[in-house]
Amino acid sequence: MTIREEIEQLKKEKNAVILAHYYVRPEVQEIADYVGDSFYLSKVAVGLKEKTIVFCGVSFMGESAKILNPEKTVLMPDMAADCPMAHMASAETIEKIRSEYDDLAVVCYINSTAELKRHSDVCVTSSNAVKIVKALPNKNIFFIPDRNLAHYIAGLVPEKNFIYNEGFCIVHEYMEVEEIQEAKAAHPEAEVLSHPECPAKVLELSDFVGSTSEIIAQAGKSDAKEFIICTESGVLYELQKRNPEKKFYFTETTPICRNMKKVTLEKVLHVLKTGENEVFVDDKLREESKKPLERMLELAK
Ligand code: 13P
Ligand code: SF4
Repeated sequence: MTIREEIEQLKKEKNAVILAHYYVRPEVQEIADYVGDSFYLSKVAVGLKEKTIVFCGVSFMGESAKILNPEKTVLMPDMAADCPMAHMASAETIEKIRSEYDDLAVVCYINSTAELKRHSDVCVTSSNAVKIVKALPNKNIFFIPDRNLAHYIAGLVPEKNFIYNEGFCIVHEYMEVEEIQEAKAAHPEAEVLSHPECPAKVLELSDFVGSTSEIIAQAGKSDAKEFIICTESGVLYELQKRNPEKKFYFTETTPICRNMKKVTLEKVLHVLKTGENEVFVDDKLREESKKPLERMLELAK
């Protein structure tokens, strides 16, 4: 039996479903039942009929799936696949800002630990942040952990007063403006599609800014034949699958999230076989961190 056949068989035997983010390896996306951006995956995780969820992504994704579905078994192919940005804020800073501002909402990007979510009022993803921040009654917004996404959203919701936190994604933060300019010079007809985790200087060079699934949708809708993609290169699999006639380029230094790439087919097979790497969140933390996640799902409707 091939590894894919073994995974298929075990999925049935164990009543399991596989969720994958667009940044994981192509062969992992290929065997997944659902592939998408962070918002899609958190919505899909709610209401699945299978008993076990194998989450092919980084820790905060599996953790959020468990928080929203405590009755399910959530397995991570690699427990060490963590997002550094998820830790780039602190409960102390949140409480300090709370004491300094009235009429404040702590808005927590879903790329964060459950501990940070528990201290927040609402979660957002890059595809629903504008809608949710606009819908909040509060004037002051402390946006954690990502400062780049915060600045981007602040530009689109000027009626709010943003307070920034010094977090960033180690992949998007280091996208080089010179390399994007070189790619533009080499492909002058190409449309530049970027993720809002990129710094403002990258977004200024872009024709379109959106989450991974919004970038993929834009590439499909656009009349352009060539695209420069400023986000993690795992999106190439879906971009090519949907648009075989179009061309996609990345910067010379290919943006790669080493944590997302830790998820391999062998590790998916291993956790399905053994039930290892189960995600546990203690009851109190789960109850408290569930509130901002559920508020996100409600406000994003
Ligand atoms: P989205 O897929 O929601 O755009 O998130 C990007 C990301 O960095 C996930 O880690
Ligand atoms: Fe975290 Fe960036 Fe990797 Fe996404 S791409 S998991 S934000 S390090």
